Amino acid sequence: MRPLPAIRLSALSRLSSLKSHLSYSPSSSASAPPPPPAMKYRVSIIGSGNWGSAIAKIVSENTAANPGLFDESVRMWVYEELVAGQKLTEIINTKHENVKYLPGIALPTNLVAVPDLLDTVAGADILVFNVPHQFLPRLCGQLKGKIPSTVRAISCIKGVELSPDGITIIAKYISDELGIYCGALSGANLAPEVAQEKFSETTIAYKVPDPADTISQKTMKTLFHRPYFHVNVVEDVAGVSLCGALKNIVALASGFVDGMGWGDNAKAAIIRRGLLEMTKFGREFFPECEAATFTEESCGVADVITSCAGGRNHKLGVALITSKRPIFELEEDLLKGQKAQGVTTAQEVHEFLEKRGMAQDFPLFTAVNDIIFNGLDSYALPQILEKVEKPLE
Ligand SMILES: NC(=O)c1ccc[n+]([C@@H]2O[C@H](COP(=O)([O-])OP(=O)(O)OC[C@H]3O[C@@H](n4cnc5c(N)ncnc54)[C@H](O)[C@@H]3O)[C@@H](O)[C@H]2O)c1
Repeated sequence: MRPLPAIRLSALSRLSSLKSHLSYSPSSSASAPPPPPAMKYRVSIIGSGNWGSAIAKIVSENTAANPGLFDESVRMWVYEELVAGQKLTEIINTKHENVKYLPGIALPTNLVAVPDLLDTVAGADILVFNVPHQFLPRLCGQLKGKIPSTVRAISCIKGVELSPDGITIIAKYISDELGIYCGALSGANLAPEVAQEKFSETTIAYKVPDPADTISQKTMKTLFHRPYFHVNVVEDVAGVSLCGALKNIVALASGFVDGMGWGDNAKAAIIRRGLLEMTKFGREFFPECEAATFTEESCGVADVITSCAGGRNHKLGVALITSKRPIFELEEDLLKGQKAQGVTTAQEVHEFLEKRGMAQDFPLFTAVNDIIFNGLDSYALPQILEKVEKPLE
């Protein structure tokens, strides 16, 4: 089979935009050399949901803590809506709380909610995308042609777009639509826990696209790392993005295991096999992926463990086995309008693999699809997985 093309990152120079952000104060001493120019990066967040607001809190804490590096004020685009008759932006800017999407959490006062998307991004050097992915095409449509190519971005949107014909990494979609470099942030990060400053780790994938760039991996780490939110920076954008999508299939399988009452040994086996298939999928279709992203990073092994312990996909997996009801009916009843991403991901990954004659090479992914859609008995999982264990010499 022909591997999908690797992410292409255009070489972009930042020099011209930085000139506009240079500020210079003449020294009082005639002999002293002038101080180095201060470059303050302006940061804007696009999205203000549960994760959007939690990340905005982190970023605003860090811009305030690093006034030499960042403009302290952070603008956050808010999809305007009325909450108890008042505009959500007004509530956020006066109460400093997103009462609808992150209630009970005090937001920094340097975080400014803005209802207009173009006002939000005006003059920004760094954009942080954090919206449910279905809204992204419309937002990118509004931004297209209006963002200088020197701007850099991070996508906190989990996952990839899959079709039988190919895989689109969301960070790459943003790069292609807006003509800017975009990295990715993903990890074992449940927004409410992060917002309450309970310890967690995350992975940022960011590869400096041009040697002339002054926005470095260190700049990105400084923007997101907190004492309670530890950041590790890697360069593997595809790997980090794939982890966020594929782990949901494994989470469904762990739900099946709990639904059958098989306990922790079985769940550990599913986690191990799931991680192997995730890594294999990444290496097969994105050869530049690093295996270590899957096995050593928060976005990989840690997010798999969190997702297999609970959450939407796990819950749905348990319910499918215990109730035997159709998956979409269960999703409707249990998740009240929210979606368990793993169901569509399992189906899309299966169609993608089938088209390439490779479904049998990913027995766990294939079994999850068959249990959900083709009536495969979940109790057959051990035999299915046994078939592909390497025979001893
Ligand atoms: N919530 C988490 O714990 C978590 C953790 C890690 C990653 N993520 C990822 O973060 C991303 C954002 O998720 P979230 O939890 O912040 O979202 P959310 O579901 O909490 O919020 C929905 C957001 O969408 C906005 N919205 C509603 N209608 C809209 C429209 N028509 N157009 C544009 N925006 C509209 C709402 O104002 C709100 O800000 C997702 O990709 C998710 O996978 C979430």
